[in-house]
Amino acid sequence: MTRRLLEPGLSMITDACRAEVWDDLLPPPQAEILRRVRGVDGLLCLLTDRIDSGVLNAAGPGLKVISNCAVGVDNVDVDEATRLGIPVGNTPGVLTEATADHTFALLMAAGRRILEGSQQVHSGGWKTWSLDGLLGVDIAGATLGIIGFGRIGQAVARRASGFGMRVLYTDPASHSDDGMAAQKVTLETLLGEADFVSLHCPLTPETSNLINRRSLALMKPTAVLVNTSRGAVIDQQALYEALEEKRIFAAALDVSDPEPMPDDDPLLSLQNCLVTPHIASASRSTRMAMSSMAAENLIAGLKGLPLPNCVNPQVYKGRE
Ligand code: GLV
Repeated sequence: MTRRLLEPGLSMITDACRAEVWDDLLPPPQAEILRRVRGVDGLLCLLTDRIDSGVLNAAGPGLKVISNCAVGVDNVDVDEATRLGIPVGNTPGVLTEATADHTFALLMAAGRRILEGSQQVHSGGWKTWSLDGLLGVDIAGATLGIIGFGRIGQAVARRASGFGMRVLYTDPASHSDDGMAAQKVTLETLLGEADFVSLHCPLTPETSNLINRRSLALMKPTAVLVNTSRGAVIDQQALYEALEEKRIFAAALDVSDPEPMPDDDPLLSLQNCLVTPHIASASRSTRMAMSSMAAENLIAGLKGLPLPNCVNPQVYKGRE
């Protein structure tokens, strides 16, 4: 285990097998993962750990399961795991609502300049009530563009309906948007019409740098960009330039590339860029549920049973 899980997930694992836990706040260095993975039957990892083909092959033929304690699995070389016949588990569903809550918190905070207002008060800059102080953009009645209309994107859309927002979305897959007044459009239409653009796609070769100079140029000068997916979906240099030149109104990011965001990153010098440290799923009950789900995947894999949540079920084809 590359980190200590929350209870009861941790005890579920220590009751089921002999577990070696990397007991540190910071992730194990890659050399340490490579060294310790040798001969293990199962690997429990976090999104901060790079589980590449080097790690998978260093583990040896006994590796029966990789359980990632996250819904996103871009840190794992799933293709190589599949080739080696190793099931990869993730934690979908349990973090949907917490992530959508945080997305909405960011959307509102960036739109209404909450951080700047708070900083102004703390620094003694609140001199009076003024008609034109810290003017933001409206949320109620605005158009929200959701890129990636899976579980989390749809949960954000449900919140938006309470604010009377018009919801547009893009997604390569077809999703049932029954009961939700959301309209599927092209990326160009979404970027051109949305007052808020929120990213909820997985990081894949297709979505890497999806938000780049070209896409930012299509956005309204009053638009707010929110990212709770993966940092590499945005070209951060292009975003910096767009924010600095006020070509879009603001951005709110829970994720960056790399993570953590270096403290001299130019984005952090901007008043119109709000950054949180990848905490969208960070409610106690959600992180406990993720830990338990990751434990269930690991234990099932160790027993040679199908993982309750497996991202590469094709490894079971042809097996009894
Ligand atoms: C968090 O980013 C996750 O993928 O669970």
